[in-house]
Amino acid sequence: MQFWLNKEIALVVGGGIAACRVLDLIRGLKSQGAGVSVIGTPAATRFVTPLTFQAISGRPFHGDLFDPTLEGGMDHIRLAREADLVIIAPATADLMAKMAHGLANDLASAMLLARKGPILAAPAMNVAMWEHPATQRNVTTLARDGVIFCGPDSGSLACGEEGAGRLATVDTIIETARRLLEAKPLAGRQILLTAGPTREEIDPVRYVSNHSSGRMGWGIALAALRAGARVTLVHGPVHLPPPLGAQTIAVTSAREMYTAVIDLWEQHHASQTLDAAIMTAAVADFRPVARSPEKIKKNGSSSLSLELEANPDILLELGKRRLAANPDRRQPVIVGFAAETGAALKRGREKMARKKCDLLVINDLLEEGAGFGVATNRVTVLNHLGQEEVWPLMSKDAVGARLIQTITTLLTTPVNGGVT
Ligand code: CTP
Repeated sequence: MQFWLNKEIALVVGGGIAACRVLDLIRGLKSQGAGVSVIGTPAATRFVTPLTFQAISGRPFHGDLFDPTLEGGMDHIRLAREADLVIIAPATADLMAKMAHGLANDLASAMLLARKGPILAAPAMNVAMWEHPATQRNVTTLARDGVIFCGPDSGSLACGEEGAGRLATVDTIIETARRLLEAKPLAGRQILLTAGPTREEIDPVRYVSNHSSGRMGWGIALAALRAGARVTLVHGPVHLPPPLGAQTIAVTSAREMYTAVIDLWEQHHASQTLDAAIMTAAVADFRPVARSPEKIKKNGSSSLSLELEANPDILLELGKRRLAANPDRRQPVIVGFAAETGAALKRGREKMARKKCDLLVINDLLEEGAGFGVATNRVTVLNHLGQEEVWPLMSKDAVGARLIQTITTLLTTPVNGGVT
């Protein structure tokens, strides 16, 4: 909510069937606090009327370059200057061709030519039109001119054909727009994250696991991406769409997660390119000693004993490897999580010392609003100086944003206050 408050968006709507979906984009931006002024091409108003744009945006619709009622006839210059961001959706083949050639014979194209700040284009059209060399040439030209593209997605198109040409989703357009405007304190930094549960198979149909949803890790990934970092997210089985722009590696068991993380750690270690490792995954501590290749049958028995053995501890291993390679430096920053049920602070302190991390985020699963399966979390953060901070109940996205701020401070503060 905070981010979009008082941000001004000039939304240029091209003439295509996807213009109808832009109404949801206007609603989405407005609901988060942004002001949206709609500028439509003459063709756009054949799909959605000016009155509809006006009703949904809550502002006058702009469509006429030669509107005699406007003082000085400078609407295109004013709109181009005042917006924090110009979004073109749908960016049609025709509109992009005009832009690429600097044409300005209607309000939308004149405004785009007068624009000096950032422009985000979300193309949508028939697949053959999108793939046509002329369109691709224009896209290349516009990208060179600094236009940022979002989509198009692939799938079934309004014309009945299949392929690239669908307007990106509203969520993707809004998130891409946000990232264009956000400060980037972690630009050029690399973050390795684990998230979600692991599953340890008992037989082909059963497994041992836990209630982790992955949402905490997703919240951190989103915040890190917004801060400009590259994010590699190694995750267990979750029901969440991949965070926009993250490199994701899906694994099932703790051992698979261990192998994936250690491989990445070693690759980055060789090139010294890892800045932080944040281990949020609820890794199963134990796995069945033997996985039955066939479904285990009851065979009339009244009980079943399962023998379990310990899984490798990924966080512990990273702490060890960093210490062996670099006894004096706390880089990459290592962040652990601790899920406790009672005596959380005491157990957290022990865990932090044992696993040698720089930050430990503790949540007490017995507290309301904290832990697995809920969208919020209430955490206490321990740092490498032994200090503790109690954070209030927040959404997991907000905890992620604050944690990324804390890590940014550690990474950017020189020796004394920082972690080098
Ligand atoms: N962790 C890990 N690999 C494991 C177990 C845990 O990387 N095999 C990491 C988690 O991702 C988390 C931290 O260690 O960052 C603490 O996890 P937690 O389950 O709270 O602690 P455990 O080490 O499992 O200890 P205990 O179950 O005794 O509380």
